[in-house]
Amino acid sequence: MSDIAISAESPARSPLAAEVSRRRTFAIISHPDAGKTTLTEKLLLFGGAINLAGQVKAKGERRNTRSDWMKIERERGISVVTSVMTFEFEGLVFNLLDTPGHEDFSEDTYRTLTAVDSAVMVIDAAKGIEARTRKLFEVCRLRDIPIITFINKMDRDSRDVFELLDEIEKTLALDTTPMTWPVGRGRDFLGTYDVANGGVRLLEGGGAKTGAAQQIEIAELGKLNANLDVSAVKDELELVTEASKPFELAAFREGHLTPVYFGSALRNFGVGDLLEGLGKFAPEPRAQESDQRKVEATDPRMSAFVFKIQANMDPNHRDRIAFARLCSGKLSRGMKAKLVRTGKSMPLSSPQFFFAQDRSVADEAFAGDVVGIPNHGTLRIGDTLTEGEDFNFVGVPSFAPEIVRRVRLTDAMKAKKLKEALQQMSEEGVVQVFRPRDGAPALVGVVGALQLDVLKARLEAEYALPVEFEVSEFQLARWVSSDDRKKLDTFIAANTSSIADDVDGDPVYLARNEFYLGYTRERAEGIAFTNVKDVK
Ligand code: G4P
Repeated sequence: MSDIAISAESPARSPLAAEVSRRRTFAIISHPDAGKTTLTEKLLLFGGAINLAGQVKAKGERRNTRSDWMKIERERGISVVTSVMTFEFEGLVFNLLDTPGHEDFSEDTYRTLTAVDSAVMVIDAAKGIEARTRKLFEVCRLRDIPIITFINKMDRDSRDVFELLDEIEKTLALDTTPMTWPVGRGRDFLGTYDVANGGVRLLEGGGAKTGAAQQIEIAELGKLNANLDVSAVKDELELVTEASKPFELAAFREGHLTPVYFGSALRNFGVGDLLEGLGKFAPEPRAQESDQRKVEATDPRMSAFVFKIQANMDPNHRDRIAFARLCSGKLSRGMKAKLVRTGKSMPLSSPQFFFAQDRSVADEAFAGDVVGIPNHGTLRIGDTLTEGEDFNFVGVPSFAPEIVRRVRLTDAMKAKKLKEALQQMSEEGVVQVFRPRDGAPALVGVVGALQLDVLKARLEAEYALPVEFEVSEFQLARWVSSDDRKKLDTFIAANTSSIADDVDGDPVYLARNEFYLGYTRERAEGIAFTNVKDVK
């Protein structure tokens, strides 16, 4: 592994490049219950961002942390919002972007994955690859996001370890390199073997810190646990050392290979190895595509895009925070940024950093960092901020809704207020709003039903607008576009009663069902129907 250097240490870099190279911006992907929350807590403990594990998610009355911003979350016991947690460890700055656990908020999760440079895939050792892990993995693959694997819950009975690796290789078409290897299983799990350097780190007393594994002779292991078949362990470790694919940084960075760590988040074991792996292997902030050029992270001019809007983070302040991923340069507090969509300049007077329980004003932030920008509805998802240049980052997606509903207002006098509120909610990405061109009441579209609950709760709490949702005659929505403007206009004119505008004024075709959609699509020559739109 001598070819791997932590770039933060390399000399002759500009101060900006040095700062950028210290950043590791990542997310954790997993199926619910695999241990994402527990692992998050333990990672934050390493960074000193929290003092007590158990604060990211505590059940019942104790649930009062930052991921608890909304009442609905408390009521439902689910995490709705995506947040960012920044912590420093051994000279590196880690930005961990959290994602909602519930799949009804998958759109939020997909957008968050546009803002990371790598991901940790947590797998429950007893279950292997589960549905949601697989889906999120596919999103990462589309974006060539390198994945580090953490096989969790090794303190419990697990599936055969070779079989687990085989499953990753076969179902995800991803090569694996075990970086550590479990010694003993389930109740007899003793610790992990460091595949590259040898030595066993013991579960008891070895979990808390990173650093060299305790050099325990394999033969000595038998003394620690009489149930262990030492010669079988020896054979297995030999096999693993000889037969495993060597770790190749390039293959990992290209998304073809995943280094695999074993551990127990609950016992805080193996977490240090994982963090060390993230620091060593995970890429620095990478270049981002815009509609004009590829923007390098070390480009001195600041640029950023908004991937998430969060309202009501603090019920006392009724504020809105736009989460922006810095793509290049340095953000300094007080600087003016250009909001490319409107061409207007906006002062960044109090950008914020987020920690597990706190936020603080950021005086400066660098490419790779995620800052919260308080605003009153100026910023939308997908917005690009620059130091004056005109380009837009591409690739923050919107997804065609799975559920379409008409919004019924119980008080008809408040129609104007509802229009404003829905506009705001769609700009925040809470739901999508479609305004039929024939003047019919607005439709809302969501990927998961819980989004409707969030919308209802927020309209009531923030705008005093009680609403109901009605089944609409339309079930499907697709964005329509064409290279030929005339063709698009003709199509729209011929289908006015099925055309609506989305939040950006882009045309959407509404269909009663798949049959109608297929029927129309077949006859609409030169028109593209898409279920994903890159927000501009
Ligand atoms: P999630 O965010 O991915 O949904 O998972 P979470 O961390 O909440 O963990 C799900 C359950 O698995 C929790 O138990 C947690 O304590 C347990 N768990 C996580 N990591 C490990 C591990 O390494 N070993 C073992 N044995 N268990 C682990 P729970 O009973 O559902 O919740 P709680 O009441 O303990 O909070």
